[in-house]
Amino acid sequence: MNREQIVETWKTKHGEQTILDRSQINEIAEDLDFTEPNQNFLGKLRIGRNQFSIANYGKNMTAPAAKWGDKFRKPKALKDIKEVQHETTIKKVDESISFVPEKDPNYIKAGYYKELIQIFKSGMFVPSFITGLSGMGKTKEVFEAAAGTKRELIRVNITIETDEDDLLGHYVLKDGETIWEDGPVIVAMERGAILLLDEIDLASNKIMCLQPVLEGGSIFLKKINRLVKPSPGFNIVATANTKGKGNDDGRFIGANILNEAFLDRFPITFEQDYPPTHVEKKIVNKILENHGVTDNEFVDHLCQWTDVIRRTFADGGIDEIISTRRLINIVTSYMIFQNKEKAIEFSINRFDDDTKTGFMDLWTKVDPSATPDELEDNSMHVQDGTTNPEPDEEPNS
Ligand SMILES: Nc1ncnc2c1ncn2[C@@H]1O[C@H](COP(=O)(O)OP(=O)(O)OP(=O)(O)O)[C@@H](O)[C@H]1O
Ligand SMILES: [Mg+2]
Repeated sequence: MNREQIVETWKTKHGEQTILDRSQINEIAEDLDFTEPNQNFLGKLRIGRNQFSIANYGKNMTAPAAKWGDKFRKPKALKDIKEVQHETTIKKVDESISFVPEKDPNYIKAGYYKELIQIFKSGMFVPSFITGLSGMGKTKEVFEAAAGTKRELIRVNITIETDEDDLLGHYVLKDGETIWEDGPVIVAMERGAILLLDEIDLASNKIMCLQPVLEGGSIFLKKINRLVKPSPGFNIVATANTKGKGNDDGRFIGANILNEAFLDRFPITFEQDYPPTHVEKKIVNKILENHGVTDNEFVDHLCQWTDVIRRTFADGGIDEIISTRRLINIVTSYMIFQNKEKAIEFSINRFDDDTKTGFMDLWTKVDPSATPDELEDNSMHVQDGTTNPEPDEEPNS
């Protein structure tokens, strides 16, 4: 086996930055008529669980990336940093635990799934920002793209309270000992994982501590005197309902104005819309299929109803919208209650009366079989005074 030839073929075939798994490396070796690469060679390339990179292969690294759980070593370049007087115990995440999400068999490729796959496969560091209304699959597609490329994903749900300690790490008291626990950003950096900063527009300016991380650089954990360098493959995706410029129509209470310099560090912004009708039909059909149900008419009516509502919303005719999430909830309720109108009603009850009536009226137009009587029946779920029937008795009890 010639290591250099494997590395050269890897570069030509996949690019230098791309992260490969063991089977892909074996394929390269096979193409070259070599035996499988040995453990020693693979060990040099290993950056995570079944993840290998040639980005640093053969390079004489004067400042090696901090390894998982490394105790602080004084970096030569930073002579002024004083070595810590006491050793800090660092709580490690077990390396054998995989953070690669499982594929959801119900997922239908939508939104910017394809582009995310391309980014993750490239192995390049390109922080991306996905903006779009609620419940359209932004978070979902990041998970699915990570699952599809077998990349580790660490999700952080940002709130206005999120601060440096939550993101980078903090001391905790365990069994009478003070130990350092790395935050999710550090864990993702060191594992070369995808960091998902979910709902980032809820953040306060305390997330400005992420500036060096967004630039792809190292970050110095001043509390424990440790310099953390991102491992190859580390990347960041943020999602938000707004573009980080605040929200004044009251739909997204808590959405904050993000610092312009912070936003400027995301080279890519995806502006997402709800999946088109034909994709949502597939999503809905998949749920029905899981329950052994085929009802093309219901699927057509439901997706048409959703489409009209979204168009009216876009034209400013109404203030509420039916999201993909709500559409899925309606179908799930239908599977429970076996009644279409009931399922729709339960799902839109949270809207004000005018909106509810408008949505229900529209449903009767889309589905002529939905009679006003049925609708009225469904909205009257007061107890009728009779006792509940006992559940069926077990045949042999
Ligand atoms: N393409 C899809 N295929 C199957 N299910 C989907 C798809 N897109 C979204 N969903 C489902 O819809 C729901 C909403 O998706 P998700 O949470 O990703 O939305 P979101 O855009 O991140 O919303 P929010 O802005 O409120 O966080 C989830 O339950 C998800 O599983
Ligand atoms: Mg989300």
